[in-house]
Amino acid sequence: MRSLLFVSLLAVGVAGCAGSGQHPGEPDAGDEAVAARVQVLFDDQCTSCHSEPEAAARLDLEAAVTTGSLVDRPARGVEGRMLVAPGRPESSYLIDKLQGTHLEVGGRGARMPRRADALSDADVETIRRWIAAGAPR
Ligand code: HEC
Repeated sequence: MRSLLFVSLLAVGVAGCAGSGQHPGEPDAGDEAVAARVQVLFDDQCTSCHSEPEAAARLDLEAAVTTGSLVDRPARGVEGRMLVAPGRPESSYLIDKLQGTHLEVGGRGARMPRRADALSDADVETIRRWIAAGAPR
């Protein structure tokens, strides 16, 4: 009886892993690809202003994905909101600043990237997906 239970638990475990191709709680390869694309976006669109030694808003976006520096970091421009709340794009000020809803949530300043056109919907969606996946590095 006991070994039967063990075997069926094992079967469930194997089927679960085979189904998703990942261990629970770990980002899958797709998430890692999204994370890499997010950093490329930051490098292309943001680091001209957001990098040391004089990072705008003291926000350095060089390698921000791999260092995790945005995650659970309080936004400067608004009370009580994180730049990136992992798993919760709707609560992440980064998304507000990119889609131009930052004033609605009590924030300030301009829509990002400041200098030019807004990011495309597809690019904002990539960043949203990355946050929804838990902001993997
Ligand atoms: C031309 C310079 C410039 C570019 C390019 C730029 N930013 Fe900014 N960013 C600023 C300045 C200046 C501020 C502070 C004033 C404000 O909030 O508008 C700021 C503020 C922010 C904030 C708010 C930080 C906080 O703690 O409140 C976020 C988030 C942000 N930028 C993200 C980005 C992202 C992501 C990109 C690229 C898609 C980007 N910025 C591109 C100049 C820039």
